[in-house]
Amino acid sequence: MCGIVGYIGKKQASPILLDGLKRLEYRGYDSAGMAVWNGSQIDALKVKGRVAALEKLLAGHPLEGPVGIAHTRWATHGEPSDRNAHPHSDSEGNVFVVHNGIIENYKTLKQQLEKEGSVFSSDTDTEVLAHLIAKFLKTGSTLERAVKKSLTLVKGAYAIVVMAQSEPETLVAARLSSPLRIGVGADQLIIASDPSAILNYTSQIITLEDNEVAVIKGVEYTISSLKSDTVIDKEVEQIEWDLAEAEKGGFDHFMLKEIFEQPETVRNSLRGRIIVEDGRAVLGGLASVEERLRSIERLTLVACGTASYAAMIGEYMLEEYAGIPTEVAIASEFRYRKPILNPKTDAVLVLSQSGETADTLAAVKEAKEKGVLTLGIVNVIGSTIARETDAGVYNHAGPEIGVASTKVFVSQLTVLALVTLLLGRQRQMSSVMGGRIAEALLKIPEQVEVILAQSGAVVAIADQYKGFQDFFFLGRKYNFPLALEGAIKLKEISYIHAEGGASGELKHGPIAMIDEDFPTVFIVPNDSVYEKNVSNIEEVKARKGRVIAIATEGDADIAKIADNVIYIPKTLEMLTPILAVVPLQLFAYHIATKLGLDVDRPRNLAKSVTVE
Ligand code: M6R
Repeated sequence: MCGIVGYIGKKQASPILLDGLKRLEYRGYDSAGMAVWNGSQIDALKVKGRVAALEKLLAGHPLEGPVGIAHTRWATHGEPSDRNAHPHSDSEGNVFVVHNGIIENYKTLKQQLEKEGSVFSSDTDTEVLAHLIAKFLKTGSTLERAVKKSLTLVKGAYAIVVMAQSEPETLVAARLSSPLRIGVGADQLIIASDPSAILNYTSQIITLEDNEVAVIKGVEYTISSLKSDTVIDKEVEQIEWDLAEAEKGGFDHFMLKEIFEQPETVRNSLRGRIIVEDGRAVLGGLASVEERLRSIERLTLVACGTASYAAMIGEYMLEEYAGIPTEVAIASEFRYRKPILNPKTDAVLVLSQSGETADTLAAVKEAKEKGVLTLGIVNVIGSTIARETDAGVYNHAGPEIGVASTKVFVSQLTVLALVTLLLGRQRQMSSVMGGRIAEALLKIPEQVEVILAQSGAVVAIADQYKGFQDFFFLGRKYNFPLALEGAIKLKEISYIHAEGGASGELKHGPIAMIDEDFPTVFIVPNDSVYEKNVSNIEEVKARKGRVIAIATEGDADIAKIADNVIYIPKTLEMLTPILAVVPLQLFAYHIATKLGLDVDRPRNLAKSVTVE
């Protein structure tokens, strides 16, 4: 996720672009850049760091002119640095591109362009677009045609805005699977990733759809489809959001926005990483250690909080499907228990959204001191943990702003399933089984959408339960760690006492607490432990306990014993937590908001825990 802005009009572009970038900074903040046409040439400035760093640079080297593009980056390919910041340009500096998304086939395109003489100056996927567009411009295409020809060659996701020295009073914008809007003012047009960068100037907004291309010249614009030049008559909407609302995409909180982004998050985590026909996962970040991974006989997964619950679910996946003995350690305990690790046959895999969690980082150092292979599943590119580990996989979930982790948890589970596929296929997993997992993973985004569409039902349940002071969350096998996640989600944003655990442990003590004032959320999909879970529900009901069940669509029996049921679509057992977590997040969110709490900034917590 990155933020992009384009401006064309009668005013100075630079202050409007800068204002837009500041409002889009929640979408990415590791580097920023701007290109402006000054009447005779396009000048660009790019810098590692936040938008404030670009602002400082601009103060010393102002970019003046009425047409420009700008970008605030959330790295996906190439670490945060000046050279990897956008806009990207071709070898001759004719074309300038800002891009949000991932070009999956950039390596192939880059090799071809290099053979043809292009000289690349960044490690990004985006730069191929600048070179491709420049190549078509040289053959006489207009900027519009050059962009269209280039986009038909790329696979992946993009929202782009392009400008060129050869057509300096034109901006071309296009999108596929990444958002892009155009603000239509009386004497100016502003293109941006979301309305927050536009609303200061106009509330008349057009939403570009997938495969649509906008060409803006002065204050005239035309929109056509990528494949044909027929003009599309687009509706101009009047958007009445205030600016704070706009940053949150119209949602009341970042947490809710991030919950609703999860279908896209899973798509981004899977993008270009699955070969269904072979039942295989392709994880570029692990390619350098793929041979070493074949000889790994034991994995230790290390993380904190929500990331550690994802790790526990990963433990079940890796043992069942990859056949690798796996254990999970809480990062804050890992060093102190003097772990026994064999440098030849052990690997330590850490999970961290921020990539800066002090305990997790200390665990990486401990493992490295013991000479063990260290791997990471990290969201923030270029973060300390991403740099310290020997190899790893990025989540590609984009920035997570809400303190309660939601979309990154779902992404961690997705990536763990991919790692399981990779390691499983290196070992005993058949291509048929691999194909089954791959297909089930590809269905997850739509299945999450189905759950989100029923969020109204969760709101009603949250309303019914908001006055209770204590909750249990219980599940078995893959959904035992998910019960821990359900409990932490409720605790951290609602301050209500919640305990998570394994359903089977209920009768070993916790059941003593059950009465009509202590409800239990049971995660009880139709899986290999369904009957056992149902028996535990009966035990709770026999003690007058209230039960909210998260069950599989079509399970009418569960509705006869539970007080409330939230249904999730059917998937492979190992993937059920990715679906079942969505109602748990919504339940916690709606209880907390009904209690009037600030869910994005809960008391006593920080997004990144950099102290031990
Ligand atoms: O950045 P990390 O993933 O390393 O953070 C780990 C935990 O601090 C984090 O998951 C925390 O538990 C969240 N607040 C949970 O929502």
